[in-house]
Amino acid sequence: MSQLIVGLHAGYHDSSAVVFEDYTFKAAVQLERLTRIKGDASKFPYDCIEEVLSIVGAKHSDVGAVAISRMYFPNEVFKRRWWWRANRAYIRRKTVRGLATEIRTSRARAPEEVIDSRKALQFVRLPEAQAIHFYDHHEAHALPALFYTDWDCALLVTADGAGDNISYSHRHFKDGKLHIVYGGEDTWHTRLPPGGMAHLYQAVTGALGFRENRHEGKITGLAAFGRPVLYDEIVSHFWVDDEGLIRSKFPRTKTLFNYIRRVAPQVKREDAAASVQKVVEDLMLTSARRLLERYPARKLGLAGGLFANVKLNQLLAEKLPIDEIFVFPPMGDEGLPVGGVLAYLLRRDGMVQWLKERRRLENVYLGRDYDSEIDGALRATPGVRQVKTVLPAEEAARRIAAGEIGAIYTGRMEYGPRALGARSILASPQNRETHEKLNERLDRTEFMPFAPVVAAEHAAEIFEISNVNSYACRFMTIACKVREPWRNRIPAVVHVDGTARPQVVTRELNPLYYDILAVHGRLTGVPVLVNTSFNVHEEPIVNAPAECVQALIDGRIDFLVTRQAIYECDTDTDAIAKRTLRVRADGNQLSSIHRSKIKIGVGIGESERYPLSGESRRRPLRHPHEAGRARSQHGP
Ligand SMILES: [Fe+2]
Repeated sequence: MSQLIVGLHAGYHDSSAVVFEDYTFKAAVQLERLTRIKGDASKFPYDCIEEVLSIVGAKHSDVGAVAISRMYFPNEVFKRRWWWRANRAYIRRKTVRGLATEIRTSRARAPEEVIDSRKALQFVRLPEAQAIHFYDHHEAHALPALFYTDWDCALLVTADGAGDNISYSHRHFKDGKLHIVYGGEDTWHTRLPPGGMAHLYQAVTGALGFRENRHEGKITGLAAFGRPVLYDEIVSHFWVDDEGLIRSKFPRTKTLFNYIRRVAPQVKREDAAASVQKVVEDLMLTSARRLLERYPARKLGLAGGLFANVKLNQLLAEKLPIDEIFVFPPMGDEGLPVGGVLAYLLRRDGMVQWLKERRRLENVYLGRDYDSEIDGALRATPGVRQVKTVLPAEEAARRIAAGEIGAIYTGRMEYGPRALGARSILASPQNRETHEKLNERLDRTEFMPFAPVVAAEHAAEIFEISNVNSYACRFMTIACKVREPWRNRIPAVVHVDGTARPQVVTRELNPLYYDILAVHGRLTGVPVLVNTSFNVHEEPIVNAPAECVQALIDGRIDFLVTRQAIYECDTDTDAIAKRTLRVRADGNQLSSIHRSKIKIGVGIGESERYPLSGESRRRPLRHPHEAGRARSQHGP
């Protein structure tokens, strides 16, 4: 085994770990998938390190290098510098301190000036590693958007709430060189300039009663139902400078949040959402246009939490003079460890070697594979029975065509926010009612239709997919128009504005997933299925068999398909009564599922503000060490 490199992110949200064998991406997992707390960052992701090393069958001693975000470390890991002596009272109040903040306040030129690398390796429990790299937040967002391409000239744009003191970065790749236009080390010591579009989006999410850093996608869905009546008002506070950077008149980020909290409730929530969506789209488009004028390129690479916005990505793909767009699929902070490892490799090997190692991303099936355990767990569960069939894909497709809701559980779990056929719920796209049915069964409130999955050979016939957006469509990171003749045939996946966010699949990618799709196409003439995350209200995507079994016995789905078989629950009431909410599926006791009935938000068309449930008021989860940390330290 070549040298293993572990990448880590332990920040404000989406803690995660990855492992690479040299340049080969071997495994990844987000803390939320292990703790079952969405976006979890409440503890250092030691469990994620154990998980990724276990997945690849490695020991701690196999790890040669670690790449880690400039996160919070215990006091004793820091070097004592003059700044410490001058601020003893401040230091005594803290048990942990943020590396990025420490670099800024002590005006260090490199992380190693303020932190002891050997002690940091001991803290992450990988003391035998030879090297540790404290990666730059926005560089770590940007590098995967270039590495997983074969482009020779490109513009790379990152945008998030904030990371390492900035909300954007712009890089131009040309002639084998990566030029930092904005967002390099020179920004370490500057004050965070307000103007982040992700902060604007986060602010309206909270102002409309949703949970910030969690429900931004609901705003994107709501926006299509409204009119941008506040557009002129909001956009007047921002401008794009000559270098393509979005600026604002707000003196502080907090002022921006207060402003949005004041103006958004003055109009219908759909209109507030539409206004902010249009502001974000117009400013980002203007910024990208200006950058492309100064730094010409025909390829656009995107990463950072703002680019979870599939409508924004669609607009950039359609309006900019580009030949291809790529959004790194784990575009949020869960994707940082990947970029961190790539940043370490870039410094270790130099740009020439790094560029030679580039490759297209085949898939994001990087979690644990439970195929050898899932069928045993299902068969051992009281009340679950195996359906008699020799062709699971055929039976699954037949049931979906008949209106049942199923789930697929196959192979390695997805990495990133989207379920892409390893842990997906599948349904018919032919009935408009499927949307409400799924929301009800899964305890969700989604305004955007669930996404479609389509076989590659039918993709361009049904959706407006071209060379520009096809790579992004493999990972469901971009919306596109549904062709007119198909809009009425697949109403469950078409938004009110005639768009959808398809996933394009091949048989090579996921044979079971593809076969269900193909048989459904043969049976109904519609080679499209609804694909939504296999999870329920506010929970992360299913990972281990226990969670999968629980969803089935809770009646969230009508059936479950694995590589080997199809399973369903008995309808016999005695059997149902015997079921406990505590199942033993993979050797672990699973605690009682939390079937929250709290509804966040109300139906489309109602103009009152969202009922602010206790849950939606709750502050985002924080690392216990982060109690005194400013909210804007890291964005979505
Ligand atoms: Fe970020």
